Order: sequence, then C-alpha cells, then structure tokens
Amino acid sequence: MKKMKVYLDRKQSQSYEICIGYDILDRIAMMIANSRIAARYVIVTDDCVRPLYGETLLSHLTKMGVKADLIAFPTGERSKNFQSVLDLSGKLLDLGVDRKSALIALGGGVAGDLTGFVASIYMRGLPCIQVPTTLVAQVDSSIGGKTAIDLPQGKNLLGTFYQPAGVFMDIKCLESLPETEYLNGLAELVKYGIIDGEALFQQLEGGVDSIRSRNRQFLGKIIHTACTIKKGIVEMDEREQGLRRILNFGHTLGHALEAASGYRLSHGNAVAVGMIAAAQLSQTLYGLHGEDRERIEGLMALLGLACRIPKDITTEDILSRLRRDKKKEGDTIHFVMLKKIGLPFVNGGVPDDLLRKTIEGLRG
Ligand code: GLY
Repeated sequence: MKKMKVYLDRKQSQSYEICIGYDILDRIAMMIANSRIAARYVIVTDDCVRPLYGETLLSHLTKMGVKADLIAFPTGERSKNFQSVLDLSGKLLDLGVDRKSALIALGGGVAGDLTGFVASIYMRGLPCIQVPTTLVAQVDSSIGGKTAIDLPQGKNLLGTFYQPAGVFMDIKCLESLPETEYLNGLAELVKYGIIDGEALFQQLEGGVDSIRSRNRQFLGKIIHTACTIKKGIVEMDEREQGLRRILNFGHTLGHALEAASGYRLSHGNAVAVGMIAAAQLSQTLYGLHGEDRERIEGLMALLGLACRIPKDITTEDILSRLRRDKKKEGDTIHFVMLKKIGLPFVNGGVPDDLLRKTIEGLRG
C-alpha cells in the first residue's frame, strides 16, 4: 500500500492522507477505526455500490468494533440534486447522527460530490472520508475538496470547498467498473499526462495494452502518479484562484458538449474531444508542435476515447452553452492551452470564429 499526505497550508498543520492499495477494504476499515476521526461513521453510497462494496466495508467496520451505519441513494448523476441532500440529511437525523460522527463517501464522483456537500453543511460540518471506487473518483474528484450538487440550470452549480479527512482507495474496485466508466477515468488520466511534464504521457503511450487490460500493477503506478500531481496542484491552489484551473484542460468544451448532447455523450468522450480541440487551438494560436497534437489525438484513439463531435449536436448549441460556462469571467471564456505537452497555461479567450471553425472541423 502506498501513502501520501496532502498539506493544505504552509505550516503543514492541516493535512490529510491518501492511501492507495489493492484489495484493501479490510485495511481501509482498520485505518478508519484507528484514525479516531469520529465516534461513529455513516457510509453514504449508491444502490449499485452498496451490494458490491458497501455491505463489505460496513461489516469490516462493525467487526472492528466501530459504530457504523450505511445509507444509500439511487445510482446516477440525477441524484446529485437538492432533494437528495434533503433525503440524506433526513436519514442522518433519523439515525441520530451528530457532530461526533463522520460520513464515508463510498463510490464514484456522484457519491463523493454529494456526500462531501452534505458533510460540509450538516450541523455546520462533519468530517468526510472519501473511499472512491471509480477511476474518475480515484484520480480526480475524491482529492482536493470540491463538493457539489447540480441545479436544473447546470452541473455543479451549488457546492463548497471542503477537504476530506482522508482518502482511501482500493484499486481492486476498478475490476467491476463498466467500460464507459473506466473510459471516463482514462480521459482524466490523459489530462494529467498532458498537463504535467511528459513522463506520465510517455508512460501512458507505452502502456496502452496494460491500461486496456486493467493490469493492476500498471494501474497502481499511474493512479499513484496522478494523485501525486493532483495533490501538488491542490496544495498550491486549494481554491482554484490560478494554477488549479489547469485541471480543467479539455473540460470547458467537454462540459458544453456533454450538456448539448443531453448527457448521452459520456464525460470521458466529451472531455477527450475537448482536449483535442484545445490542442488544435493551441497549435493555431500558440505554436503547439503538430507532432504533440498528433500524439494527443493518437493516444485518445488507442485508448478507445472519442475524437469527434456527434453529428446531432449543433455548433450553435455548443457555443451558447460555452457562453454560459460557470467559469467564464465577464464575456471571456478562458481555455486551458498548451505550449507543449506538459506545459499548460490559461489563455485570455479564443476568437468566436476560430472556435466555430475548430468545432466544425471536429465533426464525426
Ligand atoms: N476536477 C478538477 C479539480 O478538482 O479542480
């Protein structure tokens, strides 16, 4: 098992641990039991993860003498809403959960975001432990303290920065992950490969077969690398005032595409197209080498990620959604661009006609 610490202030007094291992649900329970984070715990998970890992984690905790309960919500992004916050809070109150308790977010991005959000506001805040079971959650959403629920107007529009009390991940959970979910995580891994040096990108290029076969040693290594990168970024810019924005590489257009498709296009495929568009724009505007752009497109294709925009999504719809992006400042939509692989920066906006041309050029 590998461990690392995220330090959130210069005095290093505020920190939490990230633990990564294979087949470690029992050890995760033991670490939680020994952590004394709270007097009792409530696992919050979805209906799909509950029978896979929820009951097992609950029984490990109980066997160790830890007072623990489990509550579940319906699986899927549709649960990331205010009604779920009310339902979960009601269940916590029924269980008598008080400020000496902690929540354990077990599952993917929805479980992490929703549980983190509830933990951040229930009785003005309970500790929240993240136990991510999907690749997206393990390499990205469980680390860094972003919590959120969606509004009818858009995704992640209500949320808090609320750092977890610990992050514990079992790579064995990835073996049960549906292919689309796995691809969603691969898109995030490629993102890390593009924004941080070139070493991870090369590792991904050289490890396509291991990635496709979900080789556990290889996955362990690259998940550890991705978590190290994310930890470093969050330590420098916890509240996304600057550097953390590079984690949105490919996501500005990606989110617009996802929404314009009515969420039929998966997050991974939408972000993959978003990253290809960003690479093309970087070549036109900032002289990104054509070879770097080709390597980015090539890696996406080898991993089985989408490289084209579905025909039924109109350019106007994408553009109007981009104009409503929650991260835009005034009238400017900032994009994360590349000088080369491993050297990202946030630009001051892309001319509308170039954006339109790039989107048109990416049609399937
Ligand atoms: N997923 C992007 C971030 O955590 O900032």
